[in-house]
Amino acid sequence: MLDKTSFPYGAGFRSLTREILEPVTLPVRGELPAWLEGALLRTGPSKFEVGTRTYNHWFDGLAMLHRFGFGRGRVTYANRFLMSKAFTAAAETGKITYAEFATDPCRTLFGRVAAIFDPKLTDNCNVNVVGAGGETVAFTETTMPMRFAPGTLATLGVFDYQPPLRGQVSIAHPHYDAARKRHYSYMVEFGLQSRYRLFGVADDGAQAQIAELPVDRPAYMHSFAMTERYLVLVEFPLTVSALDLKLSGKPFIQNYRWEPERGLRFHVVDKESGEIVATARGEAAFAFHHVNAFEDGDGIVIDMIAYSDARIIEELYLARLRAGTPIDATGTLTRFRMTLGADVDVTRETLAPVSLELPRINYEAHAGKPYRYVWGTGIRSPGDFLDSIVKVDTKTGDVARWYEDGVYPGEPVFVPAPSAKAEDDGVLLSVVLDIKKDVSFLLVLDASSLTEKARAEAPHAIPFHFHGNYFASANVSKGGRE
Ligand code: CO
Repeated sequence: MLDKTSFPYGAGFRSLTREILEPVTLPVRGELPAWLEGALLRTGPSKFEVGTRTYNHWFDGLAMLHRFGFGRGRVTYANRFLMSKAFTAAAETGKITYAEFATDPCRTLFGRVAAIFDPKLTDNCNVNVVGAGGETVAFTETTMPMRFAPGTLATLGVFDYQPPLRGQVSIAHPHYDAARKRHYSYMVEFGLQSRYRLFGVADDGAQAQIAELPVDRPAYMHSFAMTERYLVLVEFPLTVSALDLKLSGKPFIQNYRWEPERGLRFHVVDKESGEIVATARGEAAFAFHHVNAFEDGDGIVIDMIAYSDARIIEELYLARLRAGTPIDATGTLTRFRMTLGADVDVTRETLAPVSLELPRINYEAHAGKPYRYVWGTGIRSPGDFLDSIVKVDTKTGDVARWYEDGVYPGEPVFVPAPSAKAEDDGVLLSVVLDIKKDVSFLLVLDASSLTEKARAEAPHAIPFHFHGNYFASANVSKGGRE
């Protein structure tokens, strides 16, 4: 059993296996906005041990869904494991049966082949929750998203892709284009000729491939960029050979190699025609998260949380995190600017010299368009884990911060006020771990000033996790665009 006192934020990496199926009302301190009527739905790794084994990486843990419901000044809470095949097989056999990001199943000597590939593609959707194609969907980085009921958190089944959409790897960060009423995403098909497939899923569920880009060594990309007219894939120089992936016998991410000499490769694809309208190169960098992108004159601006290399992946192995090893790699809000044309150069600038992760914007009003504000989690004390909520003004470079001793906030989800005129008129919803009480609470901040409006204490400590979205009650299965 992990000793939570061995370092300050250990509870954030401790398994949570207790489920609360019937929503409980949480005590609220402060006052909730009267207009907040809906639910914050989140997913994250919650069970890190199976039988005698422990998953290797933070990204590997078995997914749990969390629901914070809002209405009439109250907050309710429920949580439930996602009933994925990965979860049920682990429960039934007591063994890790599906390959995750950095952990392979127990295998026999002659079974050391193709763990990432079908039929054992994992459906352990522990990264994000998005309303897509008329469904509420949990995502991981395979082509096996899972549908669930937003009210009860009951698992409904796989979100199926129809031919020609096929592949093994995908992402948990689809984009939503409100004007076209569809999500956009991409998947990677590994083979003798590997390819990226960009595709759309309309609100009515109709799927369409937009473009196919052949690639020799597919890159690890956790997200991509979207403007009003374009989808932009940015290949980081962390790449893999399909053959290695199939035959090496190593867990998924350990097959990828950092090759900085490749630099960054930008591919700009027209949403309507599917044509590649521009390609560009830039100096090597790595990112999990694109923040936003927009067209600007004859060019495109692409903002992301950039790292100098991919060491951050190594730093998130569970043994390191559970030993309290400080994270050294720093992600900063970085702006890339390219003109539209073939093989053009890209310029870059740091917008704010502070560590930032799990970025969010006013997505409903500004996705793919010019914008000003970014919210995220940051590190206030060097060597600490994500210990504060940060707001960056991309116009002035000003940084505001919310923090409190002994608390560790998660991704701040922006919810616009119904009558909002200003970009930052609304609230941020963040699940925060309080290590003094060994519980988590739902924090409601004024998104403009970062002052606290309310907090509601959950019945347990919720392990650190990644992403989720707010679903307004009138539109519960269609909200959560990001
Ligand atoms: Co992410």
